[in-house]
Amino acid sequence: MKKISPASPPETVILAELIAAEPAFVSGSALAKKLGISRVAIWQYMEKLREQGFTFEAVRARGYRLTARPDGLSAALVQAYRRDRAGDFPLQLIPEIDSTNDEAARQLAAGKAAPFAVIAQRQTKGRGRFGRVWHSESNGNLYASFAFRPQLKPDRMQMFTLWMGANVCELIASFCRTSPGLKWPNDLLFDGRKAGGMLTEARMDADQIRDLVFGLGLNVNSPAGGWPADLADRAVSLAEHTKHPIDLNKFTAALIGRVLQAYDRFVDGSYAKTFADLWNRYDVLRNRPVAVLTAAQRVAGTAVGIDDEGCFVIRTDKGRTERFRAGEVTLEKPAR
Ligand code: BTN
Repeated sequence: MKKISPASPPETVILAELIAAEPAFVSGSALAKKLGISRVAIWQYMEKLREQGFTFEAVRARGYRLTARPDGLSAALVQAYRRDRAGDFPLQLIPEIDSTNDEAARQLAAGKAAPFAVIAQRQTKGRGRFGRVWHSESNGNLYASFAFRPQLKPDRMQMFTLWMGANVCELIASFCRTSPGLKWPNDLLFDGRKAGGMLTEARMDADQIRDLVFGLGLNVNSPAGGWPADLADRAVSLAEHTKHPIDLNKFTAALIGRVLQAYDRFVDGSYAKTFADLWNRYDVLRNRPVAVLTAAQRVAGTAVGIDDEGCFVIRTDKGRTERFRAGEVTLEKPAR
């Protein structure tokens, strides 16, 4: 049997054991012994899993095996796939919410212990940068917000999203065996079409971040041709790009692990050793002709990269170096 953290709740342990053994059976007495509970208690926990859409085959003298999983996202499956971790991660899965970022912020404001995550199957007021609408149908895509209380200086916020974006790219590259590009500051792209976006929002005290919500919208499994007309040429999903459906539960389990690890490395400062290399690996703008639009101006030039604070750096057509903390970048056609 696989080693599973004893801190995990019984349902997670049972499910993880059954998944690890698939397609073989797992004996009820082995599960009971592992968890230090009776076989009747095992049966009761399996009833709870049945209520969540799992089905099992039970055969006398052989035990149980998993015969079907629920469709779509399942908190139990996500936790079971995270079985190597110490205990379940506080994850709330909601069928519908206004915005997972707003819900996470409300829960932080109500005093909920961080870290935790809120994931919705559908958002009615999904938001992007500049208050833009984030299309959030129930279509196999991911709408996730992670809540933290980091005790960092407010000026580190800018870098946080960039670091998280690079980590999400790494995860996608290893999980889907295809590399997305990063467009400063928060877009994940495949061939110029948007596959995901990040929205980090924080509440500040005088000189410290009080709490922070990292929101990720990722087009995972939405079908080609399923977008509204205004997004049809601009959006793409991982499944559409790779031509394979993505196991959203496994992906979400891996995402939680990656986000938590990236967060720790950000807070302890060790991220700085690898950040530039990671960013450069995925940056789609570097050395390309771009224009940056801010509230005050539009500046054209060649993208140089980003500086230590996460500002976007360009060399203008007049040879000046300019940095931007905020703004909208567009790729320009190279002059002929
Ligand atoms: C952007 O590209 O402008 C950022 C998009 C961020 C969307 C995600 S979906 C989950 C979370 N909840 C929201 O309302 N927004 C973020």
